[in-house]
Amino acid sequence: MTRLEDRDFFTDHEILVDPYEYFEAVRSHGPIYQPKDKDYLIVTGFNEALEIFKNSSDFSASIALQGAACPLTFTPEGPDISAQLEKHRSDIIGHDLLVNLDGNAHTNLRALVNRLFVPSRLKSNEEYMVELAEEMIRNAVAKGGCELILEIAAPFVTAVVANLLGVPKADEKFFMDLILAAPPPGSLNSEDNDYRNEEHPMIIMGRYFTKYIQDRIDEPRGDIMSELAHATYPDGTKPTLQELVNLSNFMFGAGQDTSAKLIGNAMRYIVDVPGLQAKLRDDPSLIPLLLEEVLRLEGSSKMTARLTLRDTVVGGMPIKAGTRIGIALAAISRDPRRWDDPHAFVLDRPRIKEHLSFGRGAHTCAGAPLARAEVRILFEKLFQYTSYIELDEAKHGTPGNRKLNFEPSFIVRGLSELQVDLTPAEDFVPA
Ligand code: HEM
Repeated sequence: MTRLEDRDFFTDHEILVDPYEYFEAVRSHGPIYQPKDKDYLIVTGFNEALEIFKNSSDFSASIALQGAACPLTFTPEGPDISAQLEKHRSDIIGHDLLVNLDGNAHTNLRALVNRLFVPSRLKSNEEYMVELAEEMIRNAVAKGGCELILEIAAPFVTAVVANLLGVPKADEKFFMDLILAAPPPGSLNSEDNDYRNEEHPMIIMGRYFTKYIQDRIDEPRGDIMSELAHATYPDGTKPTLQELVNLSNFMFGAGQDTSAKLIGNAMRYIVDVPGLQAKLRDDPSLIPLLLEEVLRLEGSSKMTARLTLRDTVVGGMPIKAGTRIGIALAAISRDPRRWDDPHAFVLDRPRIKEHLSFGRGAHTCAGAPLARAEVRILFEKLFQYTSYIELDEAKHGTPGNRKLNFEPSFIVRGLSELQVDLTPAEDFVPA
């Protein structure tokens, strides 16, 4: 029988929906392991992952989205495959998306993204978040409960990114419906990952962005997309229309499933960790600590990947150029060499912000401040308008015996649905 650690993480439904035992089996072989009969490595060690994230000259991010299991379209040769990669880069899924770019191409586009997240813009976006959260939560409380992921989390985070980018109000609903219909990144179904399919939700969205940005090239109107449309890279060149469309599209994809899943993952701990809900209600300033610990223990990204460009050594282990590496974020966050009692939920864990659930190095999550703000605000409003939150027992079973459906994705860790019962606060007045 195949040992747990040698089963195929990328296609094994049972492991994808509950990966933690599998990662411990992988870890039992050391911080970097090559599963039997597989041609990629899996990193479960915190320090080793950090070393790889920080070394973008020896490790390419080109395969971050397509994952470590997807074979290259060329046979790596010699101690340095940089030139080979450049020749075949366009064969890689999502090769032109920010997260997969390397070197100057990455630095240039990342500089544009960093301009989106300036404090003044985040502040006005936060005002929008507060209003929207208020409206959505009040409606849900008035009904006595809701399906948290599809009714609140996903539309909320989609609307927030739409607002940040400047998607016209009239198209917001269309964008939300499209996003809700989109499969999670890293889905088991290969058709879901076909970004060349004209009917893929991301491609449909791309057509809208093409129009928005084109309009703003011709006629700037003071919003973010106008700024992008007229932006110049740090090296003085101008982004192409396609680069801007890809960027806008990617912001939606990257900021949607991840933040929405964090809301569901955090809710599970709030309702199931004894005493936690009462503590957070007494002192909502603890919400950011809750989110960091949930990000560590159950971050919404299970795995990313890197391609080794040059023969190198990580944590004492030689790694050959051309080796594909799966960096198991879900496992490095539970590395016992880095975290005491790693599987336990601890609200005030020392140096918690050092977790790597937003990545690290050149590709560190650009949306981390946004994600932290939007999820915090949503929980603040939930606590403000309710006196108690619990999971619907008919749907999800009782504490200790929960029935929960996680997405079978090799990237995303999160619930596909979460039905919550919301008891109104004493002074709650429906809108
Ligand atoms: C809980 C929420 C989130 C989590 C856990 C998360 C996680 C990550 C991780 C792990 C990476 C690095 C991938 C790698 O190095 O291979 C990343 C990159 C990125 N994320 Fe997030 N993310 C979240 C929310 C967001 C949001 C809200 C946005 C924006 C709207 C966003 C935009 C991005 C972008 C643009 C990158 C690529 C950065 C680059 O390649 O330079 N993320 N995210």
